[in-house]
Amino acid sequence: MAASSPWAGGRPPALARLLLLLSLLTLPAGRSGAARAGGKGSSVYPAAVVYPHHSRQISWKPRVFLYQNFLSYDEANHLISLARAELKRSAVADNMSGKSTLSEVRTSSGTFLRKGQDPIVESIEDKIAAWTFLPKENGEDIQVLRYKHGEKYEPHYDYFTDNVNTVRGGHRYATVLLYLTDVEEGGETVFPLAEEFDDGKDATLSECSQKGIAVKPRRGDALLFFNLSPDGTTDSMSLHAGCPVIKGEKWSATKWIRVASFDKVHHTRGNCTDENESCAKWAALGECIKNPEYMVGTATLPGYCRRSCNVC
Ligand SMILES: *[C@@H]1O[C@H](CO)[C@@H](O)[C@H](O)[C@H]1NC(C)=O
Ligand SMILES: *[C@@H]1O[C@H](CO)[C@@H](O)[C@H](O)[C@H]1NC(C)=O
Ligand SMILES: *[C@@H]1O[C@H](CO)[C@@H](O)[C@H](O)[C@H]1NC(C)=O
Repeated sequence: MAASSPWAGGRPPALARLLLLLSLLTLPAGRSGAARAGGKGSSVYPAAVVYPHHSRQISWKPRVFLYQNFLSYDEANHLISLARAELKRSAVADNMSGKSTLSEVRTSSGTFLRKGQDPIVESIEDKIAAWTFLPKENGEDIQVLRYKHGEKYEPHYDYFTDNVNTVRGGHRYATVLLYLTDVEEGGETVFPLAEEFDDGKDATLSECSQKGIAVKPRRGDALLFFNLSPDGTTDSMSLHAGCPVIKGEKWSATKWIRVASFDKVHHTRGNCTDENESCAKWAALGECIKNPEYMVGTATLPGYCRRSCNVC
């Protein structure tokens, strides 16, 4: 019989075993060495390495993927400690004007972390880009959220229906949700319109997450889902919610990734100016995202801080 493997019928020869072992030992070092030589070598953190087999598809309509242990506990705790001091009640974008408003639909507290604000944040952003194959410059600043008992985010879409929030980088093409804590009960992410698999329900899921597909928050896990279909139209199946926390506290971090660059300056005709001396400060505090109607505006009704918000 033809051998179906090089070592059919026995253990691999000693030399082959030795070579295999050596290649396993030297591969990772070779990789990080190459990354260090390749430019941005100042970081002491390892180059962004993602392991495809850690990621699995959990729904195709909408497209949802789960990557277990995407963050180390240290990375998760670091994001929490950066955000803890800065938490503010979360807002939602008004569906017509784009104006940031408080709503009972969303009761968490949150804050934005500046892109690349420290080497750990930057390395997490590198990993997200490596996993999603989407450019780092298309990503918004990471938003860290805390949900206490009873707090939730009712079913919603991450794409916009106003024309203010899309001025910079277009639609939110994909969303990466990082779970920073385990949650004893509740707090699942649920896609109520997703096609269900016939594999029996997890009995530990809360009532809110019985319909569609639900993901239990687990510290370090990351969820990727797409808000647009591959043809660029909005995907109505991508409706999702954060279930109320029943027991424990939930911390998560969100990276929204736009269709186009969120960082690049979009040159327009006319003067590119700020109209308030505080614009740069407000932009640094994340107001371009939180309050785009005032800060960015539209082509016909420009906002006050277009220069600081990088939209001209
Ligand atoms: C905006 O929200 C209101 C009330 O929540 C709803 O009736 C309306 O259909 C929404 N419009 C769009 C364009 O989604
Ligand atoms: C640009 O600024 C100059 C000087 O402030 C002004 O005269 C001009 O009208 C402005 N142009 C536009 C298109 O706003
Ligand atoms: C800038 O904004 C502040 C706060 O809204 C306001 O008090 C101030 O008058 C503004 N300055 C200008 C030049 O519009």
